[in-house]
Amino acid sequence: MFLSPNNIKWHCTLVKKEDRCALNRHSSTVIWLTGLPSSGKSTVANQLEHMLFRYGLRSYILDGDNIRHGLNKNLSFTAEDRKENMRRVGEVAKLFIDAGLITIVAFVSPFRTDRQMVRDMFPKDEFLEVFVKCSLAVCELRDPKGLYKKARKGEIAHFTGVNDPYEAPEQPELEIETDKLSLDDCVRKIFRLLVDKKIVTHSDELGNQKSPGSPVQVPDPLLSFG
Ligand SMILES: Nc1ncnc2c1ncn2[C@@H]1O[C@H](COP(=O)(O)OP(=O)(O)OP(=O)(O)O)[C@@H](O)[C@H]1O
Ligand SMILES: [Mg+2]
Repeated sequence: MFLSPNNIKWHCTLVKKEDRCALNRHSSTVIWLTGLPSSGKSTVANQLEHMLFRYGLRSYILDGDNIRHGLNKNLSFTAEDRKENMRRVGEVAKLFIDAGLITIVAFVSPFRTDRQMVRDMFPKDEFLEVFVKCSLAVCELRDPKGLYKKARKGEIAHFTGVNDPYEAPEQPELEIETDKLSLDDCVRKIFRLLVDKKIVTHSDELGNQKSPGSPVQVPDPLLSFG
């Protein structure tokens, strides 16, 4: 039997996002990494998650390539399918935010309107756009998957940076220049953003970390650049 949208009602749960965040002892947010292929999104996401994990902060990576292996395997790289790719991952990220996780999305997400669409799915303080900035020349030199090479030979249609456009963010919450900064410094900058936005709390005293019920605290030295 077909159920019209009017007959679908949101089912409220006894356990709320706030409860899950209290259990985790930190807030949840989306960190949306956008940038050219090979700019470093997956590398940064991975290193960031490792750092969060080490400090007992709960997170998960939604990586473009991984999501296209399953949930979005039926989508191509046309503008229409890219939009649907974004919409679906935006919806998944919303669930993960509700689950109380720091949700790291690593998607090329080349179009401004599509990024605005996902931004609009979240309250202001729960969506942090991070521009993973790297020149096309450096991305092409890196080319860890050999895809730029294939695209230049005409073997891949709709390849961002070669035969599809990339629209850089105009007002991201943060830019990390992966062709200028070390990987560690890129990750520290994102970590600092999480502290500035009060998603996580930091302390001079490592000893405070274990007290039950209090926010997870990260030590200050981690937040310094160098
Ligand atoms: N500061 C840096 N930050 C991130 N990656 C860097 C940095 N310096 C060098 N790299 C290298 O750049 C490459 C980035 O590849 P990565 O797969 O992370 O890119 P991506 O943005 O996820 O690409 P795609 O959109 O194709 O998935 C890696 O080989 C990584 O080691
Ligand atoms: Mg990647």
